[in-house]
Amino acid sequence: MGIRKGYQGLIDGDIFEMDSRSVSDTIQKGGTMLYTARCMEFMTKEGQQRGADMCKVFGIDGLVVIGGDGSFRGAVELAHLGINTIGVPGTIDLDIACTDYTIGFDTAVNTAMDAIDKIKDTSTSHERCSIVEVMGRDAGYIALWCGIINGAEYIFMPERENISEEELVEKILINRKRGKRHNLIITAEGVGGSEDMAKRIQAATGIQTRATILGHLQRGGSPTAVDRMHASMMGALAVDLLCEGKSNRVVAWKNNGYIDYDIDEALAMQKDVSARQDEVSRLLETR
Ligand code: F6P
Repeated sequence: MGIRKGYQGLIDGDIFEMDSRSVSDTIQKGGTMLYTARCMEFMTKEGQQRGADMCKVFGIDGLVVIGGDGSFRGAVELAHLGINTIGVPGTIDLDIACTDYTIGFDTAVNTAMDAIDKIKDTSTSHERCSIVEVMGRDAGYIALWCGIINGAEYIFMPERENISEEELVEKILINRKRGKRHNLIITAEGVGGSEDMAKRIQAATGIQTRATILGHLQRGGSPTAVDRMHASMMGALAVDLLCEGKSNRVVAWKNNGYIDYDIDEALAMQKDVSARQDEVSRLLETR
């Protein structure tokens, strides 16, 4: 069975029969054929009970939930109501603590990388400073990756104690003296304020500065090979776990292998930015 629009569709009974042909010719497509929605009703006990009841109406005894922490909290509640649930980590934000990979991240980062490469070309042509704001909600992983792979002079991330704007201005001016013809600053969505920052940097440096918020451009698009592989492997493990009668588990990519955790345990884990990536990004920022 396929459930449209996540928990909203489950509550509404927006459920349809699928077979192996239903997913034919979809692996290369962006977005989701099942659609998605944020469902406030499912955060209530009544909504969760309606979801569990609807599973019974449609003869569903096991559910694969693709999403982030919010979706997994819902899966825990359904498991308590007798529906076997398996979580699959799917978010461009990479902010799920139990796993080193979340489906969508690689596609989003590659899209952002391409866009930033183009912005950099313009920035160099005009000898400008560019501030590029990337998505990630409260997490700075897309920013950290883009900072390293696009060669940014500074990365503003929520997980860091960031430098002051005065220090940033000094950095930009020093780099100009060293012969740089452009400046690239990456800001995570969780830090925000890139438009205003651009105005202040321009005023303080005298260098034309532009802000670009990449926004929803980073979502959708044909998935990369990395995403297709992780999604296939994680999906297969989720089905195996359901077939074994397991419930309240989440699949994860950890130390180069696919494993599963109890969802409650997974939700209690803390995620840290890789210390080495942080260190290397800082080394590269100084060049
Ligand atoms: O969680 C994925 C994400 O794209 C975040 O990076 C971003 O903050 C949010 O979703 C955007 O949500 P919406 O599409 O509802 O504005």
